[in-house]
Amino acid sequence: MGNRSLTIVLAAGEGTRMRSLRPKVLHEIAGRSLIGHVLDSVAQAGPGAVAVVVGPGHDAVAAEVKRYAADAMVCVQRERLGTAHAVLAARAAIARDLDDIVIVYGDTPFVRPQTLRRLRQAIAADAAVVVLGFRPRDPTGYGRLITQEGRLIAIREEKEASAEERSIGLCNAGLMAITGRHALAILERIDNNNVKGEFYLTDAVAIARAMGLAAVALEVEEDEVRGINTKAQLAEAEAVMQRERRAAALEAGVTLIAPETVFLAADTVLGRDVVIEPNVVFGPGVVIEDEAVIHAFSHLEGAHVGKGASVGPFARLRPGTRIGAKARIGNFVEVKAAAIEAGAKANHLAYIGDARVGEGANVGAGTITCNYDGAAKHHTDIGKGAFIGSNSALVAPVTIGDGAYVGSGSVITHDVPADALAVGRARQVLKEGWASRARQRPSAKRKHETTVK
Ligand code: UD1
Ligand code: MG
Repeated sequence: MGNRSLTIVLAAGEGTRMRSLRPKVLHEIAGRSLIGHVLDSVAQAGPGAVAVVVGPGHDAVAAEVKRYAADAMVCVQRERLGTAHAVLAARAAIARDLDDIVIVYGDTPFVRPQTLRRLRQAIAADAAVVVLGFRPRDPTGYGRLITQEGRLIAIREEKEASAEERSIGLCNAGLMAITGRHALAILERIDNNNVKGEFYLTDAVAIARAMGLAAVALEVEEDEVRGINTKAQLAEAEAVMQRERRAAALEAGVTLIAPETVFLAADTVLGRDVVIEPNVVFGPGVVIEDEAVIHAFSHLEGAHVGKGASVGPFARLRPGTRIGAKARIGNFVEVKAAAIEAGAKANHLAYIGDARVGEGANVGAGTITCNYDGAAKHHTDIGKGAFIGSNSALVAPVTIGDGAYVGSGSVITHDVPADALAVGRARQVLKEGWASRARQRPSAKRKHETTVK
């Protein structure tokens, strides 16, 4: 196979049927944008250059592209004049010396790396144009692949097809590969003399043949080339992807007690013997190491959970969380941008944000790190083996030294040295017999009689 490859991702569509202000390819399944899925497959398929064709004003798409393919060329198609016109928006990339050019759609997120490799292999095996075909349950609207003795002769768009051609079950999925050597010559010959008045990329097949070059079709299952055009299709695609991810997790040795209630992100990493209880949601960027348990109804995003740690039930881990080995995060505890070191515990009702909780430290119920002063975020540092009494407010920036104690109900505004005790609350007042004396007072009696009746 050649090693000078270019992949062009067509993503200039507005996606009007989504009824959304967002460009279509930025909608997400399994916590990843449609174009992110496509670019991830492209990257896995092997090395090569990437060009993405976007619509005017789609700066957000360009930014998303850079997250997956930092060196990608982003080309703007100013007018939507057809799929061939869209490909030529990447002319600067095509004009380089290339072995093959693979064209994919940004709204077709299930395409597998091995399929992209198959397209490239067919070019290496001497085809000038390779088209990906499939047999849809309902072929309406798709271009039909016209073949003869295993050779691809032409692609006929439905609008131009004869009744006989429309009865062909093999359709164009839209993915195509073209040999680098003839790509520009082929693409530049495509015109717009057709029913829609568009430059059809599909004409590349007949043109290549007229130039004496070979065209072939490869076939894949319909599910792989499922395109997303509506919110209903997006929801369906989400369900399909969730089923795939859960099956892969089970296969890898993860215990999912009720798999259908667990939502995984495309990049979720789950170690061996991890247990995920029912109704857990994973946002992007989560890694769970071996033997950790995520209890029911927890929500995790951008978090790393160490070996044998326990999270939840009803815990929320937000981006920048690192939970150390065997640490425990209990019910109604929220953690954000914080490191909870090995063996540390926050078992009930707490907010730990912009903080470090040292090894083996204990954070009592109701503890809050007051990280935000209305303008900026500040850090709280809790030392190894420290003990934070229940219902304490730690006003950041503040440091609690190793082994220090904070009395319950404290508001801590100054650093606490190692092994010290800090109590920051009003001293308790005690008045012996006060309550019975109060009950004897006439005023109290009268008040009592008027309110109780
Ligand atoms: C196209 C194919 C058809 C195939 C079908 C598969 C052509 C002429 N027809 O038809 O054979 O069966 O896809 O789904 O290629 N795009 C641009 N700029 C444009 C036009 C399109 O970026 O000017 C992008 C769209 O955003 C989309 C893709 O190219 O991602 C396909 O365009 P679309 O208009 O959906 O083509 P179809 O008519 O469905
Ligand atoms: Mg289409």
